[in-house]
Amino acid sequence: MNEFENRDYPNEDGAVDGLEPIIDYEDLSHYELTPEEKAYEEMIRQRIRERRRAAERRRVKRNRTVALLILMVIVLIICRSCYASHRKKRDEEKANAKVSSTDKDKEKKDKADSETPSDDSEPEGDIGSHKVRQADGLTYVDGILIVNKTYSLPEDYAPGINTAAKAAFDEMTAAAFNDGLYLYINSGYRSYDEQYSLYYNYAAERGVIEADKVSSRPGFSEHQSGLCFDVNSTDFSFNNTAEARWLAAHCAEYGFIIRYPKGKEEYTGYEYESWHIRFVGTEIAQDITSKGLCLEEYLGVTSKYEDSPAGMSQQRMAEMMGVPLEDPSGGDEDSSSYQYGSDDADSSEDSADGGYNWDGDTDQDYNNYY
Ligand code: DAL
Ligand code: ZN
Repeated sequence: MNEFENRDYPNEDGAVDGLEPIIDYEDLSHYELTPEEKAYEEMIRQRIRERRRAAERRRVKRNRTVALLILMVIVLIICRSCYASHRKKRDEEKANAKVSSTDKDKEKKDKADSETPSDDSEPEGDIGSHKVRQADGLTYVDGILIVNKTYSLPEDYAPGINTAAKAAFDEMTAAAFNDGLYLYINSGYRSYDEQYSLYYNYAAERGVIEADKVSSRPGFSEHQSGLCFDVNSTDFSFNNTAEARWLAAHCAEYGFIIRYPKGKEEYTGYEYESWHIRFVGTEIAQDITSKGLCLEEYLGVTSKYEDSPAGMSQQRMAEMMGVPLEDPSGGDEDSSSYQYGSDDADSSEDSADGGYNWDGDTDQDYNNYY
């Protein structure tokens, strides 16, 4: 037996086994608290009251925080919807302002977007009566941005599609649609890299000499300017379609020229492309078209890689790209080699097989874009 077992402990009734209970709970109501006990009880009550008050304060504070957060979310939602409606209104006003601008204003804007060099342009050697200006690697002749085999664009020049040109195109397609014809953009803006791939594919398949007749080298394509579009089909079968005829007859009214006209190959440096239109603004487009000129003639400039500071010989180009110089097929019948300046492009024979077939291989699809 240990020392604990030797002791008496009170049971549940407060009694120690074998003895009377120490406290008679029945009589507690008559129990008189001593002043110390009273003070102790009061202190306990006071503490309970303080804890309740503190809990109440915490509850109020928590509710306030929640209410504040809800209020902030509501304010945020209201602000967002106000801003969205403000933006919508502003966009609508802008669109209306655009639509309601006069033709004269539009013509001015067209010119501003497509023809005017920036103020820091530098005078270059003028060509006869034509003023040549250079700014940021771009060349403007008489205020018109020129891109051809002589005049290239910087590799990092990436303006995207020109907004004035696109607006004019949309206006033109609406007019064509009224005449029962459907015009669409087959290829518009193309980056330097995209043009590199296109040209490379042509050159790899048919050699640099053939590629140079129909496809621009990277940095020399007007597509990189964002000012031109290939309309509908970039295929020689497009030449004699109603759409091609409508385009040739009406595109100047909307500020476009057929950029590589038939019979002007020696000036433009490229085969006739009935689908490739260039935006120059209505005044200039109508002037060029009515005079029966191509852009090179109109501006008095050349389009030859050998005249270009950035140009290189076809031999060098082939070496640099790792592609053949000459057509590896030797221009045999199967490959349907297109003859520079020939009229075969719109012959019935070409139309019958879907037009000019670049590689004579239906598995290849290099002539999607020119
Ligand atoms: N087909 C035109 C010349 C181009 O490649 O930009
Ligand atoms: Zn084109």
